[in-house]
Amino acid sequence: MKSVVIEKPNTLVIAERPVPEPAAGEVRVKVKLAGICGSDSHIYRGHNPFAQYPRVIGHEFFGVIDTVGEGVDRSRIGERVSVDPVISCGHCYPCSIGKPNVCTSLVVLGVHRDGGFSEYAVVPAKNAWPIPDAVPDEHAVMVEPFTIAANVTGRIKPTENDIALIYGAGPMGLTTVQALKRVYKVKTVVITDRIEERLSMAKRCGADWVINNGQQSLHDFLAEKELKPTIIVDAACHPSILQEAITLASPAARIVLMGFSSEPCQIVQQGITGKELSIYSSRLNANKFPVVIDWLVNGLINPNQLITHTFDYHHVTDAIELFEKDQQHCCKVLLTFTE
Ligand code: NAI
Ligand code: MN
Ligand code: ZN
Repeated sequence: MKSVVIEKPNTLVIAERPVPEPAAGEVRVKVKLAGICGSDSHIYRGHNPFAQYPRVIGHEFFGVIDTVGEGVDRSRIGERVSVDPVISCGHCYPCSIGKPNVCTSLVVLGVHRDGGFSEYAVVPAKNAWPIPDAVPDEHAVMVEPFTIAANVTGRIKPTENDIALIYGAGPMGLTTVQALKRVYKVKTVVITDRIEERLSMAKRCGADWVINNGQQSLHDFLAEKELKPTIIVDAACHPSILQEAITLASPAARIVLMGFSSEPCQIVQQGITGKELSIYSSRLNANKFPVVIDWLVNGLINPNQLITHTFDYHHVTDAIELFEKDQQHCCKVLLTFTE
């Protein structure tokens, strides 16, 4: 089989590898579609501190089970599945309280273990979530990015009375807009970015207001519209954003951080305690695949509004370069793996 392998930083090859055999409790997935994410590019460029090389990248993928390992029901062969990349031990403290996404021995497919940019991938059977017939392939491949939004929103339980402010209209900001508007029916969603094209996508995803904070003061805009955000999600992840969010937030608001910056960020405690703000973080997803599959079955979210390009996996280098260089026109870029 062919696999997309990052041999070492900045060296990507399409390698011939033996088709893997599933171990006990695993299934083998014949991959059909995969999505490119910022973290794939970071591993490729050597900017992911968790990555080990060589590595088959890809943690957003969909395919069909073509064989199963010992102990797995053979009737699963032929099932269409989306794969949860989060592999957890099941018995540590975070696992015991329903947070496998921060398992003390967390393994993420495509980061710590070979992932889905490959003709075949072996994964734990319980990570392969069956996709109902009504959900098309290109929606199924988008389950993982929407689980990030499901995790963010699951932390804060949005209501119809909330006013949400989202920083960043990349894939993560846009999945969050869709979840807030279409699943939780949040009253007002404001999103800010510096890229006009991305703000247009945010409008199509349901945002009520889009603000280019490279051109306009976010503070002035919110003041003029008399909007006090009760939810703020940082999906842009610059360390300077937290203090601004604390300043802009309504009393009793909740703020969700998604960033992995290692740079210090300076904040004034008074603003947090004075308004009794709740500051959350969100990493990957905790058992959110069935939640998002349900959203898809019920037509609540529309992944097509994020997909801008599709490439055959032979052109993966072009696909990643375009994804990295053209944020104006790229949002989710998919790879197809058909023979
Ligand atoms: P992206 O890079 O495509 O989008 C970020 C957007 O933020 C860009 O459109 C950029 O123009 C905008 N931006 C940057 N600085 C800004 C500022 N000061 N104000 C307003 N907008 C600003 O990235 P993507 O894929 O949407 O991911 C967003 C972030 O979330 C990344 O930092 C990524 O590392 C992180 N992430 C976190 C996850 C988690 O589970 N915690 C999962 C996936 C991504
Ligand atoms: Mn991703
Ligand atoms: Zn664990």
